[in-house]
Amino acid sequence: MKAVGFTQSLPADNANALIDIELPEPVVSGHDLLIEVRAVSVNPVDTKVRRNAAPTDGKPRVLGFDASGIVRAVGSACTLFKVGDEVFYAGTLLRQGSNAQQQLVDERIVGHKPTSLNFAQAAALPLTSVTAWELLFDRLQIPRGVNSYNAADNLLIVGGAGGVGSIAIQLARQLTSLNIIATASRPASAAWCREFGAHHVIDHSRSLRDELKNAGIESVRYVASLTQTEQHYAHYADIIAPQGRLGLIDDLTAPLDIRPLKSKSISLHWESMFTRSIFTTHDLIAQHEALNAVSEMVDAGQLRTTLSEIIGPINATNLCRAHALIESGRSLGKLVLEGFN
Ligand SMILES: NC(=O)c1ccc[n+]([C@@H]2O[C@H](COP(=O)([O-])OP(=O)(O)OC[C@H]3O[C@@H](n4cnc5c(N)ncnc54)[C@H](OP(=O)(O)O)[C@@H]3O)[C@@H](O)[C@H]2O)c1
Repeated sequence: MKAVGFTQSLPADNANALIDIELPEPVVSGHDLLIEVRAVSVNPVDTKVRRNAAPTDGKPRVLGFDASGIVRAVGSACTLFKVGDEVFYAGTLLRQGSNAQQQLVDERIVGHKPTSLNFAQAAALPLTSVTAWELLFDRLQIPRGVNSYNAADNLLIVGGAGGVGSIAIQLARQLTSLNIIATASRPASAAWCREFGAHHVIDHSRSLRDELKNAGIESVRYVASLTQTEQHYAHYADIIAPQGRLGLIDDLTAPLDIRPLKSKSISLHWESMFTRSIFTTHDLIAQHEALNAVSEMVDAGQLRTTLSEIIGPINATNLCRAHALIESGRSLGKLVLEGFN
């Protein structure tokens, strides 16, 4: 089968950063589904693995942690899907990724694809939806449903127009009654955040504290710090309300001093969407359930795809282009590649 892999860590503009390869077709067993990949999207994690985790055994590693496709075979322990089902999923860091014509994925981390979306539109959603869902509802433990929030119950989403931000804004808007403040630094990204449901947009290229003040907002109860946490962290203890919560998903280059969070009893919550699959946690199936919930919300017209651009067919040249765009830090929503022609 056709696949795109890498063997060494090279810049995205190097012709050999990603390479077109042929691999044997995988054989299904146990809880695995054999999925024919129809479309994939690209995330910052693809670029980070390419830059920092080249394979050491000389064998090409296949990236890709977001896909939609069709189930072609099921393992003997599978109960959730049947051959022919259309699915979407992120997969796991521990196995070969979705930039291949066929992929094995544990059915407990796969969801039913929204029927109202085509494969490209659906491929934009899984990794970021699982991340946003787990961050908001499992880690920050934001209650779902319209309830007794008071007027000061604000959620600040830093990096609102990115892949995770675009779906986090929508989930928070649909499933909570929080006042949602997203950050964006450009007119296009600010408009994107508003379109997806942010009540306010502030500029993360300025002081978040000053920007909130200018918007008439004294403090926020929750912060979803999705990117450049180290740049904004100094403001968080100031802007988070007493007993508020701070959620992080990005990578830090240095230790974080948590002492400023003490006097207000601010709690810090990590989200990694690979935790459940890497450690095969007892609640691994929560990712199947979250993806199905997202799928139902899409089909009910409550969530939109976050797809911003279809780059072209799935091959090394197009994937390198997508990696470079992601590395610019300026992408809106999600970049998708479709088909293997
Ligand atoms: N832990 C996990 O499970 C997990 C899951 C997914 C992603 N991640 C990580 O989370 C981060 C974000 O992922 P993503 O897919 O949302 O990224 P992304 O789509 O590449 O984010 C792009 C967005 O970042 C915004 N941005 C750029 N500079 C910023 C700054 N200084 N402050 C605030 N926002 C800024 C940009 O807005 P403007 O253009 O308006 O400046 C743009 O909309 C990445 O580091 C990724 O690896 C972690």
